[in-house]
Amino acid sequence: MTLTVDEAGLALADPKAYADDRRLHEACALLRRESPVHRVEGPGYNPFWAVTKHADVLEIEREHTLFLNAPRPLLATAEMDELNRTRAEQGIALRTLVHMDDPDHRVVRAIGADWFRPRAMRALEPRVRELARRYVDRMVGFGGECDFARQVAAHFPLYVILSLLGLPESDFDRMLKLTQELFGGDDDELQRGASNEEKLEVLMDFFAYFKDLTEARRAHPTDDLASAIANAEVDGKPLNDFDTASYYVIVATAGHDTTSATIAGGLQALIEHPDQLDRLRADPALMPLAVDEMIRWVTPVKEFMRTATRDYELRGTTIREGESVLLSYPSANRDEDVFDDPFRFDVGRDPNKHLAFGFGVHYCLGAALARIEVAAFFEELLPRLRSIEPAGTPENIATTFVGGLKSLPVRYSLA
Ligand code: HEM
Repeated sequence: MTLTVDEAGLALADPKAYADDRRLHEACALLRRESPVHRVEGPGYNPFWAVTKHADVLEIEREHTLFLNAPRPLLATAEMDELNRTRAEQGIALRTLVHMDDPDHRVVRAIGADWFRPRAMRALEPRVRELARRYVDRMVGFGGECDFARQVAAHFPLYVILSLLGLPESDFDRMLKLTQELFGGDDDELQRGASNEEKLEVLMDFFAYFKDLTEARRAHPTDDLASAIANAEVDGKPLNDFDTASYYVIVATAGHDTTSATIAGGLQALIEHPDQLDRLRADPALMPLAVDEMIRWVTPVKEFMRTATRDYELRGTTIREGESVLLSYPSANRDEDVFDDPFRFDVGRDPNKHLAFGFGVHYCLGAALARIEVAAFFEELLPRLRSIEPAGTPENIATTFVGGLKSLPVRYSLA
């Protein structure tokens, strides 16, 4: 059966489509070819324009004073959009960096930006390596077979984030569950419950945890990121409770599932392309390029949205003031106009101008850290790996936002 462009557009708002790479990429390829700025009007969602070409995603992100993150920074159901709007009016909405625009965004981003400087990240590298080694050792402990996504990839990046924030390891399980409930919101297996009340409850649990942490760090500041956030001042005043909690939420969540998805998806790609695995093992200097290729290949963040503040013409289509556009990162990262043979996994791909970290003023704050984590993990794993093969059917998360593998059963032999 042939897919129509309208069906392809609807796939971009269907969490299940993101759990099926072939279906998603078939839809994206059709849209890029036949309707690169496509209006999507699906049941349950407010209408939006799906933007699927690399150049157009760049153009919208570059025009950050015309296309704002507020009030609709990412795709949600019409019901959730409405709920978020009401909560924002009441001043009780989650307000992270991705919900903000300038001038607030610039000021609040600066609080964390110091922490994520490459120099600060390099200082963190030995700790990241130590954790990577611990997880590879753990794979040995599993006795040659494990669910790599669930038992390894989901844990290691969270440990790194907890270290960065200065949280105790004893909170690991609680944070893992909360993050997955928050980001796996559309996945039957991961979500706490389907109702908006249950989704709100997850957020409130997060807030409660971080409120206690803020109080502790204000009373006894240390040199961790949590202290920097808790004691930050904007215009001489501390951040309010919601903005403070929102900062923790963005760091704890944005820095976790994204990197987990890259490590699991990266390993899957290496297993499926043994020539690339051999090439990387033979030439470890390729690692930085391989890491970016894994990030492009997986593209864990599926979309962000922007809303037009005035009429704007994009590729001959007029986007009206007040209308929203969905930036499709997986599609931009397979754009035939930018990537040579985009469906080839190539650990030596250079140049690799992927948009998996976004672009411009909202460019991922944790990009340097994410690259260090992924590189450290594979630098620990590959020299010890004798063999690896699938041991079951992999499964992806059903979500329109941050996705990737939730299960990757593997059988292996490690030195
Ligand atoms: C491979 C892993 C990761 C990917 C693919 C990724 C992707 C993204 C994307 C697409 C954005 C939005 C950019 C835009 O709107 O232009 C973003 C923003 C952000 N990311 Fe990441 N991210 C990753 C890892 C991390 C890590 C490890 C952290 C922190 C520990 C982090 C923290 C953030 C923050 C704080 C923002 C908000 C920046 C802003 O709005 O100013 N991310 N990320």
